[in-house]
Amino acid sequence: MIIKNNISLKPCNTFNVDIKAKYFAEVNNTKELKELLSNKQYISEKKLILGGGSNILFTNNFDGIVIKLNNLSIKIISETKENVFVQSDAGVEWDSFVKYTIDKGLSGIENLSLIPGNVGASPIQNIGAYGVEVKDIIESVSIMHLDSLEEKILLKAECNFNYRNSIFKNELKNKFVITSVVFKFPKQNCVNIEYASLKNYFVGKDENEITSKDVRNAVISIRERKLPDPNKVGNAGSFFKNPIITKEKYEELKNEYSDLNGYPETNSKIKISAGWLIEKCGLKGKHIGNVGVHEKQALVIVNYGNATGNEIVEFSKMIQNLVQNKFNIKIVNEINII
Ligand code: FAD
Ligand code: EPU
Repeated sequence: MIIKNNISLKPCNTFNVDIKAKYFAEVNNTKELKELLSNKQYISEKKLILGGGSNILFTNNFDGIVIKLNNLSIKIISETKENVFVQSDAGVEWDSFVKYTIDKGLSGIENLSLIPGNVGASPIQNIGAYGVEVKDIIESVSIMHLDSLEEKILLKAECNFNYRNSIFKNELKNKFVITSVVFKFPKQNCVNIEYASLKNYFVGKDENEITSKDVRNAVISIRERKLPDPNKVGNAGSFFKNPIITKEKYEELKNEYSDLNGYPETNSKIKISAGWLIEKCGLKGKHIGNVGVHEKQALVIVNYGNATGNEIVEFSKMIQNLVQNKFNIKIVNEINII
């Protein structure tokens, strides 16, 4: 276990915000995690679990202990006639896990290729992309209570998964650490290319011949065209969630803007694109100082230089206000502001 004092977290968050943590600990397994959490020196310190730092925005120095899990095992734990169950430790990089499953001939998470971050964070906001959400394939999540060190396994049904939401963002927020996740992969090939940009990518191809590897390559290619590479420019992916509005509100907007697309969530609710709303406010590609709206995807706020967390938050509020004033729609943060 490594514990450092007064360390910059700039290399540990994809927004590249330069703040410091009072303590920073890296643990290699749950035994070390327990030792750390029961160490008298740190018991009363505030705690933050950090994965790849790709969905987080720091606005202040962190006056407590930041804990990073480096547990890295992946194993196939059981098999039935229909399914293969794979367990991954929280510290495994998400995209390495996706690649591992595809190399094993499994399908189910290829649409989630190239999402930054670690396996441990994947259930927290129920990561999703190109028509698939991680809840579709999660079997259970192993957690440890930060104070009592009690360990528990939550079955998928107990995780209250929803669009960019789960029990981990609500009742269990800041109380538990996710130590590993079990995924249930169907043995039958189940590639899903329903999402518009994937459908376009494979136009003219026989759907039965498309493999999970083909879908992974397609998703990587689409993402590389649209989304900024966090190794080159600071960002945390979509800053806001896509809003879910009533059918009436959708129809009212559609009458005015024929290019608006909607995706039914329930019989009476429709999800629309926050990127479209922001673009319609004329903000795509615009920046103030070091902070801007990405030129190819208006849902992404970028840090072009040494912006502070607070500058980024101010910029995001300006966007929220403009969208609210123009459309009377509230867009809410997707990322975690600390
Ligand atoms: P972090 O940012 O380190 O942490 C996020 C939150 O989870 C924090 O509150 C943290 O305290 C908590 N946390 C992390 N690990 C644990 C743990 N083990 N136990 C308890 N709490 C924990 N997301 C999508 O859903 N779909 C996308 O398509 C997508 N595309 C992206 C593209 C780019 C370019 C970027 C930069 C981000 C994108 N994201 C996307 C967001 C992000 O990659 C995901 O939310 C990812 O799951 C975050 O993982 P992380 O390990 O970096 O989490
Ligand atoms: N659009 C615009 N202008 C923009 C961006 C999007 O008009 O600048 C419209 C277009 O009509 C486009 C549609 O929105 O066809 C959908 O765009 P895209 O496929 O890029 O998806 P998104 O809704 O903007 C969501 C997720 C992404 C995920 C993609 C792909 C949220 C908050 N974001 O974005 O997730 O990768 O779908 O499935 O749901 C993330 O969470 O960080 C993230 C990047």
